[in-house]
Amino acid sequence: MIIQSERISLKHLLTVEALTDREVMGLIRRGQEFKRGAKWMPQKEQYFATNLFFENSTRTHKSFDVAEKKLGIEVIEFEASTSSVQKGETLYDTVLTMSALGVDVAVIRHGDENYYDSLIQSKTIQCSIINGGDGSGQHPTQCLLDLMTIYEEFGHFDDLKVAIVGDITHSRVAKSNMQMLKRLGAKVFFSGPKEWYDEEFEVYGHWMPLDELVEEVDVMMMLRVQHERHDGTESFSKEEYLKNHGLTVERAARMKEHAIIMHPAPVNRDVELADALVESLRSRIITQMSNGVFVRMAILEAVLNGKA
Ligand code: CP
Repeated sequence: MIIQSERISLKHLLTVEALTDREVMGLIRRGQEFKRGAKWMPQKEQYFATNLFFENSTRTHKSFDVAEKKLGIEVIEFEASTSSVQKGETLYDTVLTMSALGVDVAVIRHGDENYYDSLIQSKTIQCSIINGGDGSGQHPTQCLLDLMTIYEEFGHFDDLKVAIVGDITHSRVAKSNMQMLKRLGAKVFFSGPKEWYDEEFEVYGHWMPLDELVEEVDVMMMLRVQHERHDGTESFSKEEYLKNHGLTVERAARMKEHAIIMHPAPVNRDVELADALVESLRSRIITQMSNGVFVRMAILEAVLNGKA
């Protein structure tokens, strides 16, 4: 007998913090059901989605495209470079226009943290917002696909030891993941350059030297060095970074037998992670990308349930 997971309804998805544990687990389980071939039962004949990406993206943008098409949702194409954004149209007015055209859900990535505040306070904008990343703020859909990948591997979060390593200060993925992993019962640790680590992260876990951490944890979550969010004044050597803060083949060989490697990607090969580890047996980086489609199907379904 197939037991369908509990139906989740959301108005928007802006941060993981705003989700209850029940909603998080419901979205993960529904993502797993979609992975096994479950179908969506839409309550309307036609739904429209648009993916408004004002920062570069491959995985988030294209996996939302795939998820929408798998669900049978009509995707309204949008390119900021050929839109009226070039004539000075604001984000608010772009979303207002999409809402007026009848778009049900807008997936948005934007460089400004909390860009969504004015959109959700609007009485005129009717479409739901899914946050595809806001500056260095949050990346809730990446967090949910990471959680789905961990849950698929271990079947629980309780007392799992998860290391988040690298450019934590600039990483919206790290911020979403540290909050939710701690809430679900995992033990979070940090490592990487001290200048990219803020004291405020201490409420979620402790910083440890990478060479001590590597033998302890169940999940090594490596982060991309986000040069685009640095001021460009610091000197940077790829070789030095890999040697001091990256997961080398030698370090990976000291991981627990069952431990896995994750990375939200894109990966700077041979910087935060040795090239040979990206597609290695321990790596779940490709699984993370595939799971992104299924968890995003679950998120879209929840938001469109919310509209019904
Ligand atoms: N992980 C992630 O958000 O990748 P993209 O920037 O390619 O969407």
